[in-house]
Amino acid sequence: MTTEPLPPFPAGFRWGVSTSAYQIEGAPTAAGRGPSIWDTFAHAPGRVADGSTGDVACDHWHRHAEDVALMSGLGVSAYRFSVAWPRVQPGGTGPANAPGLDFYDRLVDDLAAAGIDPVATLYHWDLPQPLEDAGGWLHRDTAARFAEYADLVAARLGDRVKLWITLNEPFVHMSMGYGTGEHAPGRALLFDAFPAAHHQLLGHGLAVAALRARTASPVAIANNYSPVSVAGDADADRAADGRGDADRAAAAYDALHNRLFTDPLLGLGYPDLPGANPEAVRDGDLAVIAAPIDVLGVNYYNPTGVRAPDEGSPLPFELVELAGYPRTAFGWPVAPDGLRELLTGLRERYGDRLPPIQVTESGCAYDDVPDAEGRVHDPERIAYLDGHLRAVRAAIDDGVDVTGYFVWSLLDNWEWAEGFTKRFGLVHVDFATQARTPKSSYAWFRDTVTRPAGPASPSTE
Ligand code: FCB
Repeated sequence: MTTEPLPPFPAGFRWGVSTSAYQIEGAPTAAGRGPSIWDTFAHAPGRVADGSTGDVACDHWHRHAEDVALMSGLGVSAYRFSVAWPRVQPGGTGPANAPGLDFYDRLVDDLAAAGIDPVATLYHWDLPQPLEDAGGWLHRDTAARFAEYADLVAARLGDRVKLWITLNEPFVHMSMGYGTGEHAPGRALLFDAFPAAHHQLLGHGLAVAALRARTASPVAIANNYSPVSVAGDADADRAADGRGDADRAAAAYDALHNRLFTDPLLGLGYPDLPGANPEAVRDGDLAVIAAPIDVLGVNYYNPTGVRAPDEGSPLPFELVELAGYPRTAFGWPVAPDGLRELLTGLRERYGDRLPPIQVTESGCAYDDVPDAEGRVHDPERIAYLDGHLRAVRAAIDDGVDVTGYFVWSLLDNWEWAEGFTKRFGLVHVDFATQARTPKSSYAWFRDTVTRPAGPASPSTE
C-alpha cells in the first residue's frame, strides 16, 4: 500500500455498502415468504461447500435495526440492499404480499432517518421457485413477471428509494446458474443458456418502463465486468487476420462476460458470440432492452486470464490463472489496475452512450479471525480497498464519470456456493452467536468516507 494519502473524491460522491437479501436475511418463511431457487439449491445435498443454507444467514430480518446502526456509524451516504422477490410475490405472480413489503418499507424509513440513501436492487438471483418450475429465465414469460413484480415494489417504495437497480450481475446468474450449474437453479446448459441472458435483459427493459411509470428516481443495472487478457505467450502462430487462437479466445470471452449484457443495453445489439443461438430474440426486443438508464452499476472483483481452447472443447476459450498477483481467500487475483482499465475501457468502448457509472460492488474475502481481545484486524482488506479507490480516482482523472463506490459487503455473509467459508464484510459476524464486530477496515472506511471532499464533478453536483 502506498503511503501517499488517498486523494479526495468529488463532493457529492456516493459512498456505500452493498448486501443482498438471500445472503443476509434468513427467516425464509417469515411473513408469508415463498421458496426461491436458492432455498431449493442450498438444501440439495452437495451444492454448497460447507453444506450450509441461507435459512438464518446473518439473521438480518430480525437484526436490521442493529445493521442500520452499523451503517450509520460507518458514515456512508447510501446502502444497496436487494428486495427478495419471494417475499413480495411468494408464488412469483399475483398481488403483493403486504407483510413482505412491510419489512422493506421499515428498512427504507430507518435508512432515511439515519441520512442514508436507500439503493434497491430488485433481483439478486432469488427467483421464486414456482417461476423456475415453469422454465425460469429460459422462459420468456419470466421477463413479464419480473416487470409486474417491479411495479409492485415501486408502488410501495417508489417515493423513497433514491436509486433503483433492476438486476444484479445477469452474466453471473446466466453463466453459473444456467451455464455451468454451480449456482441456483443448477442447470448446466453451456451456450444453450443464452435465452437466460436474453430474457433477463428483456425483463430489465420492461422493468425500466414499469419503474418510470411509478418513480422519478434514477434507474440502473449492476453488471459484473472483468478485463480479459491472454495468459502466457501461447500465441506464437498468427493466422492470416493477424490474430492468434489465444487472441480470438480472449475476444470471445470478452464478448461473453463484458459485452453480451452491455452492448444491447446501450443500443448496440448483441455482439457476435460463437455458439449462442439467437432464436429467443424477437422483433422489438432490442428496443425494449435499450431503454435509457441513468446509471451503469459496475461490479468488479478481478481480471480473467484466457487461452485458446483445447481441440474439441465445447467452449471457444479456456480460463486460466493469471500469474503474478497476490490472491484473496477466494483465490481471486488482487488487481486494482484492472478496475481503472475496465472503467476507462467502458468509456472508450461506449463513448457518449455510457451513462455515469457507480461501482456497485468492490471487495475481497479473507480469513478474518478475532484476536485474543476479540478485535478483528484485516490489513489486506484495507490495502485492497485503498488500491481500488485509487484506481477509481485515477479513472475519474482520466475523464470517466464515476459517481459512487459501494463496498461488498457490510457484513460477513452467506456466500452462495461457498456457504459461510468466505468473509467479505467490513463487519465480522460470528455465525454461532450473530455477534457483529467491526473490523479495522470498518474504521478505515469510515475515516475515508468522512474526509473532506474535493470539488464536485459535473454529475455529482
Ligand atoms: C458478486 C455477487 C455478490 C457476492 C460477491 C462476492 O458476484 O453479486 O452477491 O457474492 O460476488
